[in-house]
Amino acid sequence: MKSRRPLVAANWKMNGTRAENARWLEAFLDAPPACDTVVCAPYVFLLQVAQGLSGLDAQAGAQDCSDRAPGAWTGEVCAEMLLDTGVRWAIVGHSERRATFGDSDELVAAKAARALSVGVRPIVCVGETLEQREAGRTNEVVAAQLAAVLRTCSAAQLATGALAYEPVWAIGTGRTASPAQAQEVHAAIRAQLAAADAQAAGQVRLLYGGSVKPGNAAELFSQPDIDGGLIGGASLVVRDFLAICGAAN
Ligand code: PGA
Repeated sequence: MKSRRPLVAANWKMNGTRAENARWLEAFLDAPPACDTVVCAPYVFLLQVAQGLSGLDAQAGAQDCSDRAPGAWTGEVCAEMLLDTGVRWAIVGHSERRATFGDSDELVAAKAARALSVGVRPIVCVGETLEQREAGRTNEVVAAQLAAVLRTCSAAQLATGALAYEPVWAIGTGRTASPAQAQEVHAAIRAQLAAADAQAAGQVRLLYGGSVKPGNAAELFSQPDIDGGLIGGASLVVRDFLAICGAAN
């Protein structure tokens, strides 16, 4: 029996309309899951999601967060604005941002630190590409990504948020890491955190992400160091997302 409460986060990515979101939220409210849940929506829908979830154990999350304080930064959204909108969480370092929008390890670390400094809980994503895995570099790559974040944030601070291990080759591909492959990396992440702060390492929730579906969630979540998931494609279908949340309990 794990001491950590399971956490399942939806990552809608750049999907949704106000009408679709309203239908999703209505169905979610009909059968709210028993685990902690975060719904990470595009910025423009966060107010709708935060208001729609109010009163539940579920909270709204952003999919990114600026590393800047309020000011003249056209197009950016800062952590203060998220909090003011009722948003308690923010994904940082998703591989789609690292690969396509140039978020470096250092920028991801700065974003996580900025979010934490105002009380927004980061979900810090790490993970290797297929090429890196095939070259036997998975642990080295993930450790370097985590080390960058540990230079700006303490393990105890990170434990107020969550870390997500998302192998890039498993995201949106239908190809999931096996429970053993995922567990091995999760254990390495927890050991790296434990070297900094054993208590925080025991508390932090480590999520697995990458083609999690209702059919594979339970086995992944039953691994000793997997405390829930970060769900992309399957989170768009509320029935599937609720089934995955059910598997976390
Ligand atoms: P996926 O995405 O579930 O569609 O693979 C996961 C993620 O990118 O967070």
